[in-house]
Amino acid sequence: MNNRWPPGFVEKRLAREKKKEQKLVLSGDPIRRIAQASLLLSGMRARGRRNALNLQLEHNEFSLPHWPEQLHDFRILHLSDLHIPETGDDELISGIEQLTRNTPHHLAVLTGDYRDRSFGPAAVALKGLARLRNALSDNAILVLGNHDSIGTVGDMEAMGYRVLVNEAATIEHAGSSFDVLGLDDPSYYKQHDLQRCVEQGTTRFRVLLSHSPDTHQLAQEHSVDVLLCGHTHGGQLCLPGGYPIRRNSHVNLLSGRWEFNGVQGYTSRGAGTSVVDARFNCPPELTLHQLKTVI
Ligand SMILES: [Fe+2]
Repeated sequence: MNNRWPPGFVEKRLAREKKKEQKLVLSGDPIRRIAQASLLLSGMRARGRRNALNLQLEHNEFSLPHWPEQLHDFRILHLSDLHIPETGDDELISGIEQLTRNTPHHLAVLTGDYRDRSFGPAAVALKGLARLRNALSDNAILVLGNHDSIGTVGDMEAMGYRVLVNEAATIEHAGSSFDVLGLDDPSYYKQHDLQRCVEQGTTRFRVLLSHSPDTHQLAQEHSVDVLLCGHTHGGQLCLPGGYPIRRNSHVNLLSGRWEFNGVQGYTSRGAGTSVVDARFNCPPELTLHQLKTVI
């Protein structure tokens, strides 16, 4: 596996993963404990949990100048931030599986955070991903988030996912093609390298998968057409109207469709939850993106 990336890349990633784990274990993960206790005391846990399982299918269209006509109406199903709990979560996986099977698509993409916590065993998360694999299109591409270990790439690929870690894959369709560029997590591990992805591409049509929207400027600098991401959970715990109590991205691209200097992007609210298994005024989502050619 080491020949696939520059010398020292995997070792550096694994060392950072270890450092993060030690920090969270030593501190006792206080944010998680406080948030869980607050929710229990408020008596709103059951409602928050119900909201968290109320998975929605969002429809989004990108109107793309210069996009090949043969790729008009190409459909991408986008999953993000599953955060499959260590206890397993049959309702979460079943919900995703059912919605996915009922949503015809040409390509499935997953933009990170499959494991609930950012350290510890990944076996249950991998089992969930394996279960979902059959519900997805033949082409299913994923990138890693800040909760995912680079040590799980081999297992994911054995299930039939194409995993991109600063790499590119060319998708052929109806006599045309475009590149999917996949970054390593830019939010915590910061070993992402978009230039390397672009160099591996074979076309000038670029769909970028990045765990976090914080790469929007980088995407513009590399002439990316579409950026698909997650990480923010849309705020997850929001006030009425969807205003987040807390946000985990420094850019104002918290959820839904956005545009930044010619780059069209979409930030998924994610399918799962993080820190607490509850959502308020911010339902979980899968997203069907339709790429439309502007003539
Ligand atoms: Fe996440």
